[in-house]
Amino acid sequence: MKNKNLSQRQQRQKEYLKKTALSTQAIRSGTVSGLEQEHNDAIYATSSFIYGSAEEACECFSGQTEGNIYSRFTNPTVRTFEQRIALMEGGARAVAASSGMAALTSIFLGHLKQGDHIVSSCSIFGSIVGLFDNVLTKLGITTTYVSPVDSQAWQDAIQPNTKALFLESPSNPLGEVGDIAALATLAHSHNALLVVDNCFCTPILQNPLALGADIVMHSATKYIDGQGRCVGGVAIGSEEHMEPVFGFLRTVGTCMSPFNAWVFINGLETLSLRMQAHCSSALKLAHWLQEQPQVERVYYPGLESHPQHQLAKQQQRLFGAVVSFEVRGDRTSAWRCIDDTQLLSITGNFGDAKSTITHPATTTHSRMTAAARALAGIKDNLIRVSVGLEDYEDIKQDLAQALSKL
Ligand SMILES: Cc1ncc(COP(=O)(O)O)c(C=O)c1O
Repeated sequence: MKNKNLSQRQQRQKEYLKKTALSTQAIRSGTVSGLEQEHNDAIYATSSFIYGSAEEACECFSGQTEGNIYSRFTNPTVRTFEQRIALMEGGARAVAASSGMAALTSIFLGHLKQGDHIVSSCSIFGSIVGLFDNVLTKLGITTTYVSPVDSQAWQDAIQPNTKALFLESPSNPLGEVGDIAALATLAHSHNALLVVDNCFCTPILQNPLALGADIVMHSATKYIDGQGRCVGGVAIGSEEHMEPVFGFLRTVGTCMSPFNAWVFINGLETLSLRMQAHCSSALKLAHWLQEQPQVERVYYPGLESHPQHQLAKQQQRLFGAVVSFEVRGDRTSAWRCIDDTQLLSITGNFGDAKSTITHPATTTHSRMTAAARALAGIKDNLIRVSVGLEDYEDIKQDLAQALSKL
């Protein structure tokens, strides 16, 4: 049984945390337990919850009293994760999902209906293009794609039935930076929502809600976990914007498991330090890659030569840890460089402590049509590196020896 002083202390701490730094909130906020005086968050591995009487059960099921009913709806471990990330993103409420894609599906199907229209950046994760083009179209929801950095194109694409704008910034894999504040103004002047995929930045580097976005989403699978263990996602926004997302998700059942929530809670505790280390190595690597004779072009918002460098400085605290580059030559050269690395992992994931190397055109973005890839600027000689937490010199040396064989 929770002791009274502990409950009061936890209540005071909850208020106190609203004024603390993001790195502190990431470690201490959102905790809902303490029932057994445990210091670390407990994993509530339970599918349902019990009541003292039929009347109490009735009151809880009808919403008269607060309480858990069933883990597809709410679960204390999942709630800790939701409360923590909501505070960090500056949103009133978060809704956790079984994956980033489940969070996105819940956002769009929770808010949109047949006949509605989305304007989306063309530089988004490939599966999201699949969601828009193969799933939402079947339900009568259409999408127009525009360059994330062409403000006129965003305006021109708006239709009377446009209900949502969707941006990933910086984009994957080219690091294009969309102007979140300007897009929020555009969306609101047409009564549409601005939804931002904040995977590449995490709340440590960027808070889209503070810039005017209505809903921010994460694939928790990436930096929030940070060690490539679990798949999960989350949507964050106001109560009003989250209720339809929650309503959809609790019905279709794509909820986050308590175990995954526990991994993400613990991931958040080290997120601030990890992001600083990731970003510091990425910036050094981007500068170094620019000087390599086998490299034609480097894409990283932290480079002064990047077209949206100033905007990235304004809306982000650091520049992120994904660096993409084109090698001289074609797909064969890119594949050879990837195959010749010794340390880096060849995988599609990013945001891991382990550095990863990917050929976007034939993996993460292979389901896009060649035309869509060309529109997004993803060439066959492009390589993406997610800079991990290994010693910087080791990451650089591995790429140096692979590039030297080209
Ligand atoms: C930028 C971005 N958004 C969303 C997703 C989807 O997340 P998940 O794989 O957790 O469903 C991914 C996955 O790689 C991604 O890279």
